[in-house]
Formats: sequence, C-alpha cells, structure tokens
Amino acid sequence: MLAIGCDHGGFELKGHIIEHLKEIGVEYKDFGTYDENSVDYPDIAGKVGNAVVSGECENGILICGTGIGISIAANKIKGVRAALCGDVYSAKMTKQHNNANIICMGGRVIGRELAFMIVDTWLNEEFLGGRHANRIEKIHNLEK
Ligand code: RB5
Repeated sequence: MLAIGCDHGGFELKGHIIEHLKEIGVEYKDFGTYDENSVDYPDIAGKVGNAVVSGECENGILICGTGIGISIAANKIKGVRAALCGDVYSAKMTKQHNNANIICMGGRVIGRELAFMIVDTWLNEEFLGGRHANRIEKIHNLEK
C-alpha cells in the first residue's frame, strides 16, 4: 500500500498520479487534501510520513507547489527518508542509494508525464544495500 498526499499546490498533480497508480495497479491510500482550498503542507506530510514509519503503508508520495516544504516537513519524522525528485536520474538514485521511502514532487514545477516517469522509476528500482545501508544507518543515527 502506497500513501499519497498533497497540499493545494499539489492537488492537480496528485489527481493525475492517482490515475496513473490505478493504471499500473499500485494500491494507494489518499491522505488528502481533497480539494484546492488552502491547507498547510506539514499537516499532510505528517499524515503520510506517519503512515509510512508505522508500517501502515510501505512507501509514500507527497506533492506541494514546489515539493520543497512538504519534503522538509516529512524529513522531520523519525524513519522518513523523503527525497524531492524533479528528474528521472534522481528518482533512480534515491531508491538505489538512499532507499527513499517517500518521494516528493512539485506540482507547480513538473508536468504529469515526467511525474509518472519519476514514480515508475522509483517504484521499480532496487536498493543496492552494502555501503549505502551503512550511510542510511548514519542518517538515522542523526535522529538520536
Ligand atoms: C503553498 O502556497 C506553497 O507554499 C506550498 O505548496 C509549497 O510549495 C511549499 O514549499
């Protein structure tokens, strides 16, 4: 199960991504927001981030206007590794090296086709482990 959420700046792109997830057969849980009224992105980052670290969801997608605020907020939650992605190479590497459990995108920055490629790449790549696992452990040591 994939957790997905957005603020008003990411609402339109979230709708497109949900349609794409349906097409590729990925189960998701939508944590809102559910319309274009203004909301605070940390609230949505908290819902999706907590769903991921609690194990309720395996991974997550967060979208705000730029993807920046919502990624900063999500990364405050212990156990979250949220990566802001605006290109396919970063999407690939953040799975291989960072094992990002959440990707973030900017609904006012990228188009839907690029967003679909980013999502597909991140979902299909594998974490490489080894030295990268040691580095992730060091990231989480910083949370203590
Ligand atoms: C909302 O206007 C906007 O600030 C938000 O979507 C996001 O871009 C923040 O980083």
